[in-house]
Amino acid sequence: MNDIIEKLYLTSDLTDEELRALITDESPETAELLRRRADEVRRREYGEKVFLRGLIEISSYCRNDCLYCGIRRSSRDAERYRLSREDILACCENGYELGFRTFVMQGGEDPHFTDDVMCGIVSEIRGKYPDCAITLSLGERSHESYKRLKDAGADRYLLRHEAASPELYAKLHPAELSLENRKRCLSDLKSLGYQVGAGFMVGAPFQTVDDLIADLRFLQELRPQMIGIGPFIPHHSTPFSGEKPGTLALTLRLLGILRLMFPKVLLPATTALGTIAPNGRELGLQTGCNVVMPNLSPVRVRKKYDLYDNKICTGEEAAECRGCLQRRIEAAGYTVACERGDCADFDTQGELK
Ligand code: SAM
Ligand code: FES
Repeated sequence: MNDIIEKLYLTSDLTDEELRALITDESPETAELLRRRADEVRRREYGEKVFLRGLIEISSYCRNDCLYCGIRRSSRDAERYRLSREDILACCENGYELGFRTFVMQGGEDPHFTDDVMCGIVSEIRGKYPDCAITLSLGERSHESYKRLKDAGADRYLLRHEAASPELYAKLHPAELSLENRKRCLSDLKSLGYQVGAGFMVGAPFQTVDDLIADLRFLQELRPQMIGIGPFIPHHSTPFSGEKPGTLALTLRLLGILRLMFPKVLLPATTALGTIAPNGRELGLQTGCNVVMPNLSPVRVRKKYDLYDNKICTGEEAAECRGCLQRRIEAAGYTVACERGDCADFDTQGELK
């Protein structure tokens, strides 16, 4: 396996057969070599820096019915909330004082957040915090909507592609959602000049090694600035309640592979990774990750943004989450960077150089 990892390290590419061999290799030696090479590349590109993103979960209402998601439309016992403009601005104010220079507004596809409402919020944040990046993660919208939000001041958009294989996509989503539209959204966002984040869940029900290879190939085509991956974790009130979660080992292998395939990409150590293992995020950081997204949402709504079971960080105030993550980042051997943290390769055309 050493020669495959060395080839990936030197060329950032592998054949499908080589990828298959690496993805399925469960040996500790492979994990360690991949970790070492991934860490070397992240240190070459970003030094010890870990960028912070303040995550504001603005709504648990969703018109979609993704089969894996705890806040899907048909989750009858899901508790619904939405933050007001004042709530969101208070989160930003608190976050700014804590040193955050990126705000990520994420939520279900809530019809309340029309373009007018969302543009009002984005332009107010833009006016108050000209030195901060504004990231949105609000699902699928029209080209016109993405354009208006960009014009109002949004810089980045996170929209995981979820599954690049049409067959798997169809097994994870209801018929009214299509991979085609998801891809259309990502391509609109890129052409509008957003810094874009795509990604997928590791160990999703029905996912095969071929599906993971398709995800990696799709990412090579799209060339996003950020790639968000984390283990699938079942939620008790979804059709996938009885499915097995994705594993720590496979998620770490994929993180290492992603760092070597995309040396300059922004790679978050996700909350889901921290949920399947107490030191999951630290291990992620040591395997190529360079972003963490502490929660800035008001504590009273945290438990209600209930995507999967046993989600961590649902009881702490923003300042506690910030402090806890800082300690974890430093203990893992890195330093917190209080800056916007743009992708090292982003130019104004929205393309990787
Ligand atoms: N509505 C927006 C969208 O669709 O992009 C943003 C919110 S959505 C809840 C954010 C991400 O959560 C999804 O892209 C999905 O990959 C992840 N997610 C949802 N359910 C999950 C689960 N059961 N386990 C792990 N990740 C999950
Ligand atoms: Fe819409 Fe999960 S189904 S956010």
